[in-house]
Amino acid sequence: MLLYDQVSKRYPDGTEAVKSFSLEVQRGEFVVLIGPSGCGKSTTLRMTNRLVEPTSGTIWLDGQDIRTVPAVELRRRFGYVIQQVGLLPHLTIADNIAFVLRLMGKPKAVRRQRAEELLALARMDADVLDRYPRELSGGQQQRIGVLRALAHDPDVILMDEPFGALDPLTREQLQDELKRLQRSVQKTILFVTHDMDEALKLADRIVVMKDGCIVQTGTPEQLLTNPADSFVSRFIGPGRLIRSPGKLRVRDVMLAEAATVPWDEHAWQALDRMRRRRVNSLMVIDHAQRFAGIVLLSELQAVVQAGEAVPVGKLANRREACVDPDADVSAAIWRMLRFHLDAIPVVDDQRSVVGVVTRSALAGVLGGQNRSGATLKALQA
Ligand SMILES: Nc1ncnc2c1ncn2[C@@H]1O[C@H](COP(=O)(O)OP(=O)(O)O)[C@@H](O)[C@H]1O
Ligand SMILES: [Mg+2]
Repeated sequence: MLLYDQVSKRYPDGTEAVKSFSLEVQRGEFVVLIGPSGCGKSTTLRMTNRLVEPTSGTIWLDGQDIRTVPAVELRRRFGYVIQQVGLLPHLTIADNIAFVLRLMGKPKAVRRQRAEELLALARMDADVLDRYPRELSGGQQQRIGVLRALAHDPDVILMDEPFGALDPLTREQLQDELKRLQRSVQKTILFVTHDMDEALKLADRIVVMKDGCIVQTGTPEQLLTNPADSFVSRFIGPGRLIRSPGKLRVRDVMLAEAATVPWDEHAWQALDRMRRRRVNSLMVIDHAQRFAGIVLLSELQAVVQAGEAVPVGKLANRREACVDPDADVSAAIWRMLRFHLDAIPVVDDQRSVVGVVTRSALAGVLGGQNRSGATLKALQA
């Protein structure tokens, strides 16, 4: 999809912002560039849509050298989201979302329809369409900024610290929404941040940069379990590192009695079940006895307090929060951290729940090993 071949940028004042950057990004991949301020993240992004021209090296988009594509056409193949949203104050939200479509000469009715469609995709109320940017909160404006980048259906979305200026809560919400949005529209995303939690949460693959160079590329799990050097470990933070506890497998540490709940049980019944078992999550089992996701105490409490009669199957979430019995224990630890859970179900290849790995059981097992200090710290965090 996107290929960087030894791309470098030296600014006229002599600053070497990016040095021989090589990377291949797959279609549909969510790649996060991370590194300290000034390491060349924004420059890399800007070279991609030719807001900045590389000094040397080549960037390929779908097999085409981007220098051979006229700049206007090239930019339409990208969506671009920055921290300073840059909504136009005198245009309505609908007109802001469809701004690029207007430049492309699309008729008004088409633009309106597209704006409505995108708003629905982001689960936002259609009544914001006729409002003006200043009438929206910072978080809402940033959501509109993301939708605007999607409006013309670009191949790749470039995002430069898009949530950097938001408060932590809004920021987490937007991260969740972006991840969900990306799953449904299946766009390729190149996302810049200096926040490791954000990177670990969003990325399929993380590219760690330092002084204009790539230091390490890997999945969040690879980075946490195998940081390339002390710079990467420090950047990840010692509390988050997962040291592999030897060759221990999930089946060696799992417990048999997983706390499960059938999908058609009502929320209040499940809540009662949770209290009896003294757990804060339940594994939901569907009608074919397969693992269908996890429901949390707080989620059950919310619907019970609201007086809603909802079966737990409707609340089941986090379908990826499970491990195979033959997986390395670090896979279970990683999922605990990523999904903020105290217990990870162990499922076989039929997706039947065959056991559970719990934080306390792990702490018990790993506590006996010398090398596990960092792992335990991560679990206790
Ligand atoms: N237009 C510019 N002219 C000169 N130097 C620049 C320019 N833009 C960025 N730089 C320098 O290039 C380096 C990388 O900057 P940047 O790509 O913005 O890093 P990051 O986004 O990782 O913070 C920094 O040293 C920065 O000061
Ligand atoms: Mg930057």
